[in-house]
Amino acid sequence: MKNLISMTILLLMTIQNSSALEKVNIQKLKNLYKRPSQYEIKNLLKLKDLQSEEVIELGKKLFFDPRLSGSKTMSCATCHQPMLHFSDGLPLAHGFKGVTLERKTPGLYNLLWAKKFMWDGRVDQLELQVKLPLYHPDEMHSLPEKTVMNLQAILEYEQEFKRAFPKSLPGELISEEHITLALAQFVKSLVAPVSAFDRWIAGDEKAISARAKNGFILFNTKARCAECHSGFRMTDDSLHDIGVVSYRENKSPDVGDGQYRFKTPGLRNIERLAPYFHNGSVPTLYDMIEFYNMGGKEKRPTLSEKMIPLGLSEDEKNDLVIFLKTLNSTLNMDFPRFRDP
Ligand code: HEC
Ligand code: HEC
Repeated sequence: MKNLISMTILLLMTIQNSSALEKVNIQKLKNLYKRPSQYEIKNLLKLKDLQSEEVIELGKKLFFDPRLSGSKTMSCATCHQPMLHFSDGLPLAHGFKGVTLERKTPGLYNLLWAKKFMWDGRVDQLELQVKLPLYHPDEMHSLPEKTVMNLQAILEYEQEFKRAFPKSLPGELISEEHITLALAQFVKSLVAPVSAFDRWIAGDEKAISARAKNGFILFNTKARCAECHSGFRMTDDSLHDIGVVSYRENKSPDVGDGQYRFKTPGLRNIERLAPYFHNGSVPTLYDMIEFYNMGGKEKRPTLSEKMIPLGLSEDEKNDLVIFLKTLNSTLNMDFPRFRDP
């Protein structure tokens, strides 16, 4: 009996200690996920010698304007739809004349800080990236001169470009360089709006449930997600082979960067970005956790060492899903204002 009591006391002490320990670690962990301030975002978006806010405003107009495309029927927003956090809900994107493209349309949040673009990270500058869909025959199917000419014929754009680039000579106003700069600045201004998770990180204990909090701890510990999905944006900006199925019917496998590696995507608003991965091969968040619980599906020699079976219980899997849903936010088409009203 005495033994049992002392064992119980010992057990209680361990639990108390471990929960105290967890508290310290949770605070430390939470600090890693803090949102950047509006001030930091505004500073990063400022363009030297240019009307930063007007450039973004112009980029927003261009992003939604099908007159940029060869057929004048497709805009960036045909695939990158605001209501779907700038993706399209399809496993693989649908291009010009309905042709199915090779990869899924990614969401466009938080690219202000990104170092690599495209699923395989093959582009390192957003200003170069935005040209690819513009001129791709299966996407917007335009030509540099054609896009410029299309826009020069539209009276309101003359004013818009003047506002954004007031120091330009008239002949250089509506140019490929200005179009791509404005589009890139608009994309950069798309910072994921505040979610319940952010409110919890900022100190509101009631913002998310106990199960979501447990999911967050698992995300950073046993489930190993934070080894790659770290920080406010939940990405390490690196490429990894995580064992995604590479098989494609009637086609050679998709090898990513050549070694089956793909870019770690950010996870903000992830629930609405389904189906998942570069090929849309995973339909739900629960299936996603199953995928990681198995240590990936295709075990190639290039598989990341970080991918190992996790041994998660059913409750733990569900807690992770509950946590991931706290990253949802409502749509916000506002972007930082540079000047006070
Ligand atoms: C036909 C559909 C479609 C259209 C139209 C389209 N995109 Fe995309 N976009 C995609 C797909 C698919 C990818 C991923 C391609 C890849 O990784 O190989 C992508 C990737 C991107 C990326 C990289 C995101 C990242 O996380 O690396 C950006 C930025 C982007 N598009 C912006 C734009 C802009 C700006 C326009 C208009 C000029 C545009 N897109 C038009 C389908 C489209
Ligand atoms: C070794 C690095 C690594 C680890 C560990 C990792 N991920 Fe990923 N994650 C990636 C990469 C790379 C992709 C993109 C793969 C692709 O599209 O082929 C990805 C994609 C995803 C996606 C899909 C995103 C989208 O837009 O389609 C989700 C959701 C996700 N990971 C969640 C998790 C969770 C939850 C964990 C922990 C259980 C985890 N990841 C662990 C690297 C990792």
